[in-house]
Amino acid sequence: MAEEGGRKLRSQAWFDNPANPDMTALYIERYLNYGYGLEELQSGRPVIGIAQSGSDLVPCNRHHLVLAQRVRDGIRDAGGIPIEFPTHPLQETGKRPTAGLDRNLAYIGLVELLYGYPLDGVVLTIGCDKTTPSALMAAATVNIPAIALSVGPMLNGWYEGKRTGSGTIVWKAREMLAAGEIDYAGFIKLVASSAPSTGYCNTMGTATTMNSLAEALGMSLPGSAAIPAPYRDRQEAAYETGKQIVEMVATDRKPSDILTRSAFLNAVKVNSAIGGSTNAPIHLNAIARHVGVELTLSDWTREGADVPLLVNLQPAGEYLGEDYYRAGGVPAVMGELYRAGLLDGEAVCCNGRSVADNVGHVPILDEAVIRPFSRPLKLAAGLTVLSGNLFDGAVMKLSVISDEFRERYLSDPADPDAFEAKVVVFDGPEDYHHRIDDPALGIDERTVLVIRGTGPVGYPGGAEVVNMRPPAALIRAGVHALPCIGDGRQSGTSGSPSILNAAPEAAVGGGLALVRTGDRIRVDVGRRRVNLLVSDAELVERRASLGGSGGYDYPEAQTPWQEIQRQLVGQFDTGAVLEPAVKYQRIAQERGLPRDSH
Ligand code: FES
Ligand code: MG
Repeated sequence: MAEEGGRKLRSQAWFDNPANPDMTALYIERYLNYGYGLEELQSGRPVIGIAQSGSDLVPCNRHHLVLAQRVRDGIRDAGGIPIEFPTHPLQETGKRPTAGLDRNLAYIGLVELLYGYPLDGVVLTIGCDKTTPSALMAAATVNIPAIALSVGPMLNGWYEGKRTGSGTIVWKAREMLAAGEIDYAGFIKLVASSAPSTGYCNTMGTATTMNSLAEALGMSLPGSAAIPAPYRDRQEAAYETGKQIVEMVATDRKPSDILTRSAFLNAVKVNSAIGGSTNAPIHLNAIARHVGVELTLSDWTREGADVPLLVNLQPAGEYLGEDYYRAGGVPAVMGELYRAGLLDGEAVCCNGRSVADNVGHVPILDEAVIRPFSRPLKLAAGLTVLSGNLFDGAVMKLSVISDEFRERYLSDPADPDAFEAKVVVFDGPEDYHHRIDDPALGIDERTVLVIRGTGPVGYPGGAEVVNMRPPAALIRAGVHALPCIGDGRQSGTSGSPSILNAAPEAAVGGGLALVRTGDRIRVDVGRRRVNLLVSDAELVERRASLGGSGGYDYPEAQTPWQEIQRQLVGQFDTGAVLEPAVKYQRIAQERGLPRDSH
């Protein structure tokens, strides 16, 4: 049996196994029929999967269909054999009820593919929000050498001489439409201007966040995450990624060697410095659980909250993806954090080099876009985790708290980090859309909007609906954001300072199930507490009046997967993973090979 670096390649158990000659013939004949030769497949060269996430259903990642050609070239030139295969499509904007439901489905599917086929290593093609975590979660579980290739952001969007950023412009355009500043045709035109080319969201939404964090974790080549999709450099990164994975198989550098606790803590800090999405803790905690590294929400507060915001990208800032790349991208941000002593320089990356080697000397190329550590956009700009009598953990993004918001809610000199307000509760986004402009609700500039039934079980999958615009009448009066609280998520492109990802969610009996319109709530950002100002006795009574499930009543499942996910999924604070999957770790090493197919 052929060996690589003294080791047997797992693909040889399919294609070249003297102990099992009749099965070898059966395994190999069908892979010969599209052009690979017998000698080639039995040459002992590593078989490298290209997990293709792009398709017509996933426009954000569609450019991977082109880039895969250069990945193949890189694999070939380094002596490997490429095999490309599709993954479950994950389009953030297209999939109903939410791509959040499909992340775990794509994960479970990819685990089966990586483990059950003759693959020695894999290139994970990532981009749109959930494509990145699902791929990294699967690579963590299977633990064969794996490298991620970002498809890159779209070019900058422009409208009437101003940058228009993905998602961020949608939330703004909705406000303008509600306020009567634009008509419907103008609304569509303004939103479409933000999507001028192939690629993923050009803002610091969940896609740019997760692709940046994949690089920060060491799972992508240094400098590769931020390259815009249509740029020539993107093709080069694809080629280099193909070459790199062959080297990783030769040296047996696996996800478990890269995805260490140090790597995760580095990524948590990078997330603060880039102004990363509130989806990042869900996804990073999920990846950590599948690789068996401890990472909790309290790590996010302890390690990340005090890190300053350096990257001036929408929604927290003003620029977009092309600017981010030209300013130096992830290596420039990491270089700055490393020189400030915030990163563990020893963490190993996919290229076999340390963080210190990769980024230690990388400068910032445009200080308007990536600020030096000494002159940040905001101090202490990370995510903060709040708790209280409504939930054990919920996340708030400090970098997007606007001056307007601070002025209105956080300016009481006696109590500068806290405010009290009455709440109006919505049972899901349909209820919100139906009633938000109803004057009978009495929503004013001191109202907190609460939405529930929107978590991993309730929705199911956890919808991005917590960022709720105020009633049109308030927008016209100059109130652009109200505090929002919910057990769902919000788009990473939203600049809303919501308190979200509340766990446990209402559907499993979390405190949000007990809230009633008209209750008062106290939000203390400084002490990281949120409490409903209702007596414990009253809360006990309200709980007793909930239905038989002990939680908030949610609509019936519409598909088999919705039902299965509801039975198996955990809460946002622990990554919303399929809980029975967590015990399957390093299965390529720990569980041997799968049994023969015939
Ligand atoms: Fe795909 Fe934003 S919708 S990256
Ligand atoms: Mg989204």
